[in-house]
Amino acid sequence: MPDPAAAARAAKLRARIEDANHRYYVLDDPSIPDAEYDALMRELEALEAEHPELASDDSPTRTVGTRPDGGFPEVRHAIPMLSLANAFETAGVPEDADDRTRYAEVADFERRIEQRLGVSAPVFSVEPKLDGLAISLRYEDGVFVQGATRGDGASGENVTANLRQVRAVPLKLRIGKSPPPAVLEVRGEIYMPRKAFADWNANALERNEKLLANPRNGAAGSLRQLDPAVTRRRPLAFFAYGVGEVVGLELPDTHSQTLQLLRGFGFPVASEVDTAVGLDGLLAYFRRIGELRDTLPYDIDGVVYKLDDYDQQREMGFVSRAPRWALAHKFPAQEQATVLRAIEVQVGRTGAITPVARLEPVQVAGVTVTNATLHNADQIARLDVREGDTVIVRRAGDVIPEIVRVIEERRTVGAAPWTMPSQCPVCGSQLVREEGAAAWRCSGGLACAAQRKEAARHFASRRAMDIEGLGDRQAEALVEFGFVHSPADLYALTVEDLVRMKAALDAATAADLAEAVADSRGALLLDPRGQALLADDAYEWKNAAFLRRHLAVDLSGKLATRWAENLVAAIAASKATTLPRFLFALGIPHLGETTAKSLAQWLGSLDFIRSTPAVLLQALPDIGAEVGRSIATFFEQPGNAAVVDALLAAGIVFADESPPSAALRERLGLAHLLEALPVDKLGGKSAERLADIYVTLDALLRANASGWTGAGLSSAGAENLAAYLADVEALADLRAADVAMRRLLDAAPAQAARAQGPLDGKSVVLTGTLDSMTRDEAGERLEALGARVAGSVSKKTHLVVAGENAGSKLAKAQELGIETWDEAQLLAFLAKHA
Ligand code: IVH
Repeated sequence: MPDPAAAARAAKLRARIEDANHRYYVLDDPSIPDAEYDALMRELEALEAEHPELASDDSPTRTVGTRPDGGFPEVRHAIPMLSLANAFETAGVPEDADDRTRYAEVADFERRIEQRLGVSAPVFSVEPKLDGLAISLRYEDGVFVQGATRGDGASGENVTANLRQVRAVPLKLRIGKSPPPAVLEVRGEIYMPRKAFADWNANALERNEKLLANPRNGAAGSLRQLDPAVTRRRPLAFFAYGVGEVVGLELPDTHSQTLQLLRGFGFPVASEVDTAVGLDGLLAYFRRIGELRDTLPYDIDGVVYKLDDYDQQREMGFVSRAPRWALAHKFPAQEQATVLRAIEVQVGRTGAITPVARLEPVQVAGVTVTNATLHNADQIARLDVREGDTVIVRRAGDVIPEIVRVIEERRTVGAAPWTMPSQCPVCGSQLVREEGAAAWRCSGGLACAAQRKEAARHFASRRAMDIEGLGDRQAEALVEFGFVHSPADLYALTVEDLVRMKAALDAATAADLAEAVADSRGALLLDPRGQALLADDAYEWKNAAFLRRHLAVDLSGKLATRWAENLVAAIAASKATTLPRFLFALGIPHLGETTAKSLAQWLGSLDFIRSTPAVLLQALPDIGAEVGRSIATFFEQPGNAAVVDALLAAGIVFADESPPSAALRERLGLAHLLEALPVDKLGGKSAERLADIYVTLDALLRANASGWTGAGLSSAGAENLAAYLADVEALADLRAADVAMRRLLDAAPAQAARAQGPLDGKSVVLTGTLDSMTRDEAGERLEALGARVAGSVSKKTHLVVAGENAGSKLAKAQELGIETWDEAQLLAFLAKHA
């Protein structure tokens, strides 16, 4: 009489396992982590062993994988493709228990073999257990004729066309002169190398495409593509680990020799494959590969032990779905399920925002994981991860743990989709996202504590404020040791501050170096001033106190003080600067040196630049919508505005401020304001007509929609404009832009006062190496003659100056038929206009 409770539990387990099989093998979309699947399977096996009346031939414990689902033609395997029995670490045993207790299942496996064969310490072939997809490759008369997946073990899917695209699968056997075997089936694993997987995902992330959940999934999904051209683009590889049907070829006596033979035929075999003797040999191999696991170029989920001698294999035979002569010894799983407590955002040193998952702590591959990366907002949307969800966390090698999918079946009711916060968690500035970009960023560049180091480093750098003696490391150290919070603090530094900072930096460097020396041995090291030391010399240095003394001799006395005095003077000297340098130094995203110069030329003063709204900035040449928005948003953040004010209060002055350019009159006006509005059916032509008739914004606003149609706007356009202006904020923005515009136009001189240069209005690109001057110098001289120097060649470029070894820019100029000069022509021109 079957036990009804056990029968019900068995039915439930089978249903869950079958569902998981279908998701894993057919849909390539696993629902539960492997570790959980293994646990269900083991519970069912134990139940069936205890209640033999419950066992049935179609139980998932007796079958392998799942039947093919019809996407590809079916192939019957001449010799079934079997599975392996699994061994895990004994549950609940402490880590320091002896190996035989910890790995009791492996010990049992080895003992059963010794007893049944009556031998002691048999020889095994020991192999990494590759985490990919099992396939069988059939060669007839030495030629690849058919490739199939494992399917349910008896028949699989015919994926020959796709396998032909995998470079590691030989299309012919390498045999030399001897006749090829009539039939040779080679079995092995298709997998995606780790690096290829990471590159693939990095690329997908950039292009906003779906990420592969893990290398195994990537391999399976790629092989089951209906279009072989798609498979071809996927970076797949193959390792052979056995044979199926063999006709017309005498196999050697052992499995390890067969693997050698396969190598000779041209099949890749994992180089970690080895032989081992007895239980001690097996466990030593398990440990060795376990240590290598993170450094291997492919994912493995354990090792496989196979009795090496074919006669001994035959004697051991099979049970239901697996041979008694082989065992898969599994490592701790790299994927685990856990609960996502919260999604928080982190700010990087450049302001990039990364969402981070805070997790219910979970052990993954031997490490407790509490945080995982979610990459970016798109990835969160793609995975549809919500706070409170049960998720699968993956940690492979030394990569940051990541969330690969959600177990939707376990979602609690009421869990809401996640949305990006609107403000930076560190400084409260607005978070912004550029059109088409995956990343959000904090717009509080100068005021955000997370970005302080980067802000100070960039501010002091040569192309920005050019503070001599303040290198990247020192600029960052000033922030690290609390002497500087924002670039404005630089101007309050004293000689004593700098001497103290230098001492702190040297002590930290000495400690770092001592640590590096301690774990070097034979390596080349750099001393704190960047000089190479051989490790042999470095042993002399290994005492941190000695190092500190060594450095102190140099720097605590006169040298440090002189350095600090020079630096204070250099900082003071940097106060007299130019507007473009200062703008560039602020580190506004997308504001490069060219844009900084152009802004300064058009708007003339910092006062105008910082108060001009994005719609007006966009009207300037070289400033697109994105750059305009970035500049305006930067200055709108109260934190940034405070730092800019502090810098001015510290005495920064510009030698080159001027009124706005007279040419602004051609670019700005009511028509421009109207055209820039995001209003449908209000294009350039109708904006101009409205501007001609109303002249001022006030007059336009006093009229109503019917007035606008009378002035030539279509009724749809008028309706849209009225609806847009009904929004209080939109209307306020428009009025503010109008005020700013009139302020600019009032300040601009009526006539273009600028002297005419020979290169006025011309866009020039410099490329390659010049002999007689640097590219920067050449650029400055060309700018003095009216040119605008740009970084890349486009249809709008007028001239390309190409020095030695000019590359793609010169080629592009030639392709576009743009005038090009060599250095001699440049020099002749400069001489003529000197
Ligand atoms: S031998 C009868 N060797 O593990 C023996 N399998 O759980 C059949 N696998 O379907 C397999 N590395 O996908 C063997 N070195 C290896 C392996 C390996 C990975 C996979 C293979 C197989 C599964 C069995």
